[in-house]
Amino acid sequence: MIKERTFLAIKPDGVQRGYVSEIIGRFEKKGFKLVGLKQLIPSKQLAQDHYGVHRERPFFKELVEFISSGPVVAMIWEGEGVILSARKLIGATKPLEAEPGTIRGDLAIDIGRNIIHGSDGEETAKFEINLWFNQDEICDWEISDYEWRAEN
Ligand code: RTP
Ligand code: MG
Repeated sequence: MIKERTFLAIKPDGVQRGYVSEIIGRFEKKGFKLVGLKQLIPSKQLAQDHYGVHRERPFFKELVEFISSGPVVAMIWEGEGVILSARKLIGATKPLEAEPGTIRGDLAIDIGRNIIHGSDGEETAKFEINLWFNQDEICDWEISDYEWRAEN
C-alpha cells in the first residue's frame, strides 16, 4: 500500500465561511485517507515558518498575519499520488483562474482568501507535516474497503 502523504490546511476564511465539511468531504469522496486532523490558531512563528519560502515576497507579512488571524484546520491526507492530486482538487492559486470543479474555482474569488493550502511537492509535504504535527498526532489506520479504491 502506498504511503504518500500531504499536508493540507483550511485557512481562516475557509473555516469562517463554513467550508470545513465541504472540503474534507471532497478528499474523502476522492478516496484518500485522513491520518491527521486538528484545529488551531497558528502562532505568527508557525505561519512564518510555514510560508518561509515566500519570506522576501511583498505579500509575506499580510499572508502571515492572515494565516495566524483565526482558526485553521490542519490535516494530513494519505494515498497514491495524493500530493499532486490534492493540488489539482484545490485549483490554481488565483481563484478567478482556478477551474470550476476545484475548491478555489468553486468557492473563492480572491488570491488572499483562497480557502485552502496544499503542499506543492514531496519535500515540502514532509517539511510541513513535521512542522504542524507531532508524531503521536498522526493516526495510522487501514481503510477496510481499500481494494475497491485501488488494486495494490
Ligand atoms: P498555498 O501555499 O497557500 O497552498 O498556495 P499556492 O501554493 O497556490 O501559492 P503560493 O505561491 O505558495 O502562495 C502562497 C499564498 O500566498 C498568497 N499570495 N498572494 N498577492 C499576491 O500576489 C499573492 N501571491 C500569493 C496566496 O494566498 C497564496 O495561496
Ligand atoms: Mg504554496
